[in-house]
Amino acid sequence: MKLLITGGAGFIGSNFTRMAVNQNPSWKVTVLDKLTYAGRRENLSDLEDNSRFTFIRGDICDPVAVAEAMNGCDAIVNFAAETHVDRSIDDSSSFVRTDIEGVRVLLEEFRKEKRNLFLQISTDEVYGSVESGKSREDDVLAPRSPYAASKAGGELLAMSYWTTYETPVVVTRSSNNYGPWQYPEKLFPLFITNALDGEPLPLYGDGLNRRDWMYVLDHCRALMLILENPVPGSTYNIGAGEEYTNREVTDGILAATDADPGLVRYIDDRPGHDRRYALDVSSIKEKLGWKAEISFEEGLELTVAWYMNNRAWWKEIKSGRFKEYYRVMYSERLGNSRENR
Ligand code: NAD
Ligand code: DAU
Repeated sequence: MKLLITGGAGFIGSNFTRMAVNQNPSWKVTVLDKLTYAGRRENLSDLEDNSRFTFIRGDICDPVAVAEAMNGCDAIVNFAAETHVDRSIDDSSSFVRTDIEGVRVLLEEFRKEKRNLFLQISTDEVYGSVESGKSREDDVLAPRSPYAASKAGGELLAMSYWTTYETPVVVTRSSNNYGPWQYPEKLFPLFITNALDGEPLPLYGDGLNRRDWMYVLDHCRALMLILENPVPGSTYNIGAGEEYTNREVTDGILAATDADPGLVRYIDDRPGHDRRYALDVSSIKEKLGWKAEISFEEGLELTVAWYMNNRAWWKEIKSGRFKEYYRVMYSERLGNSRENR
């Protein structure tokens, strides 16, 4: 198998690339990544000397870079995307470009030759906020943030290529991931690193929004199973069913880092903040025999240990342009914040 992984220098992509190379001695793996603020070459440094691994810096919206990277590939896993909801609220342009137009460029190059699988990584956010019950794959899509709407556009476009050209597309919709190598703008890594630094933990709104949390390697295992058993035209939900409020996650992080609960601050909410996501994962369980194996307690412990042991990685990120992002996103809101309760 010759596999192209786009966005392989980001959080989930780097965990998946490592698994793909290390578990499959006959596979050749190419990563195409633009290295935006969220992608880092050092996320893959342990693979640099592996002769079965190639890294190409390039944009999925650039047909020339995509043609070079896809040359001879049997399958592609597309992780490349702008991924942070708060940034999409601030400016949606790069989201529409990468998460929709980038997918179109990839699909056009892909369909020039006969290949096995175009695996489009989507998100549970395409279902919108789910007040009760669990989203099933055939539910209506109702994305509510510019990020979620862009991801819905990307996956719908991909599936339209299956319908129209019989391009062998599979779409996955995963719940919130956490684990090693996650850029510290997202809840888990931001709160863990802030707690380790004794900095405030800025909880949005009442802190009672709920997410369905999955350890990143469980997600990667599910994707590996799909690659090995491709059924074109299918869509799979992937989630661990570990549903917690943000306050519960925060309390877990405080306990695991032994940090002061007084660090918690309630700040102004994210506009249009989805209250809850929850996935019905019976399809992937029944069809591929997948289920999450790492409990929330175990995953939290592994993740906190990783951030404790890899301070140089996140300290460097947090001392660079992240500082300006953090100031714009949080300083005024933290100034108006309410203390822990
Ligand atoms: P991330 O932000 O950590 O990484 C994204 C990667 O894509 C980075 O390496 C970045 O450099 C690269 N990239 C961005 N624009 C690009 C472009 N135009 N061309 C080439 N590369 C580009 O993201 P992540 O959290 O690892 O998410 C990966 C995928 O999984 C995304 O498609 C996201 O929508 C989806 N997803 C993420 C989660 C989650 O909880 N993190 C959950 C469900 C789905
Ligand atoms: O559900 C899957 C999605 O999960 C992915 O598609 C996205 O790419 C990924 O970023 C993630 O989106 P969320 O918006 O759910 O993740 P985030 O870590 O930004 O926020 C998780 C919850 O925590 C959400 O309810 C908002 C809240 N939050 C987040 C941050 C960054 C806070 O209360 N304070 C914060 O500072």
